[in-house]
Order: sequence, then structure tokens, then C-alpha cells
Amino acid sequence: MFVCVCQAVTDSEIHQAARNGAKTLKDLRRELNVGIECGRCVNCARKCLKVVHEDAHDLQQ
Ligand code: FES
Repeated sequence: MFVCVCQAVTDSEIHQAARNGAKTLKDLRRELNVGIECGRCVNCARKCLKVVHEDAHDLQQ
């Protein structure tokens, strides 16, 4: 599913970036250009990051 329509970035790409070390929206902007145009994707992109980081945290416990 596209999260950022303006830059054609999918949730899978965001999840992969998060697994590769992206921790913040700023990291996603730098790596994938998420949110650099209209900004409508910002909340959804943050949720995608959060899901990956919460899953990683759960696996460590
Ligand atoms: S949908 Fe991401 S910048 Fe427009």
C-alpha cells in the first residue's frame, strides 16, 4: 500500500527502512523523501515506523 503518494513510497519500503535503522520521520525523509511535498502521509509514516520498532522491542523481551 502506498503511504506517500507524492513520492510513491509504500509501507513495505518504510518497514524496510525502519529495519535498516531509520528511527524518525527525518530519517525517512532523508532515505525515501517521505513527506517532502503535501505532508499528508506524515502521520501514517510515523505509525509504520512505530509498528516496526514495537515489534522489534517485543522480540527482544
Ligand atoms: S503523500 Fe507524502 S508528501 Fe504527499
